Amino acid sequence: MERLIFLGPPGAGKGTQAVKVAEHFGIAHISTGDMLRAEMRGGTALGMAAKSYIDKGELVPDNVLIAMVRERVQAADCANGFLLDGFPRTTAQADALASFSEIDRVINIEVPFELLLARICGRRMCAACGKAYHTSTHESELCSCGETLYQRDDDRAETVSRRLRAYETNTAPLIDYYSACGLLETVRGDQGIAKVAEDIFAALNG
Ligand code: AP5
Ligand code: MG
Repeated sequence: MERLIFLGPPGAGKGTQAVKVAEHFGIAHISTGDMLRAEMRGGTALGMAAKSYIDKGELVPDNVLIAMVRERVQAADCANGFLLDGFPRTTAQADALASFSEIDRVINIEVPFELLLARICGRRMCAACGKAYHTSTHESELCSCGETLYQRDDDRAETVSRRLRAYETNTAPLIDYYSACGLLETVRGDQGIAKVAEDIFAALNG
């Protein structure tokens, strides 16, 4: 059983690495950002409510996210475990999570602040499979699955700086929170994608 959390600022590479790690362990990749974007695309009440926060670069209220994840981790595909990408993001979310699930390991992906903006502004996403690309390394407008890539609405520079502030204020304290529980492993995210993956697997197997 692997019940993992990926912590890290916007653009750290959580989603990029989560796809590989979830596939390797045969566990569910739970990206709360992807779940909220699916709700927005579907035009649901939850999606519309979330959009007003996401477009401003603010966090969606805790009660919404907690209910969403509590239900999601009970799904059949979580029987072998799960990888939480983008949750918890506040101490209240971490406390709630502890009340409904055990956690085995927390990987903190650390990237210098200056690199994050360039990573996020050059990102292109696949709506079909959730894969992220960067314009500096991927010239095509197509995903490997054939879908046309798009740029997230919240990946514009002015929104990104608000997301980075929300991270510093609300989410960075979780580094100490999980360190105090003895669950935290920190990995340097300012290396090539393959090297970051290697370090994450080493931390998880160590
Ligand atoms: P979410 O979708 O989770 O966004 P985020 O946390 O801001 O993180 P990102 O997805 O931007 O970055 P990432 O770390 O996944 O990086 P990626 O792998 O794509 O959340 C969006 C919004 O939803 C939030 O702002 C909030 O409003 C709401 N929300 C979600 N969860 C919530 C919660 N729990 N509570 C409240 N609100 C919530 O990589 C980024 C780019 O860098 C890509 O282009 C990639 O190709 C490139 N890259 C990756 N790794 C490397 C590398 N090693 N070297 C070079 N380039 C790299
Ligand atoms: Mg992501």
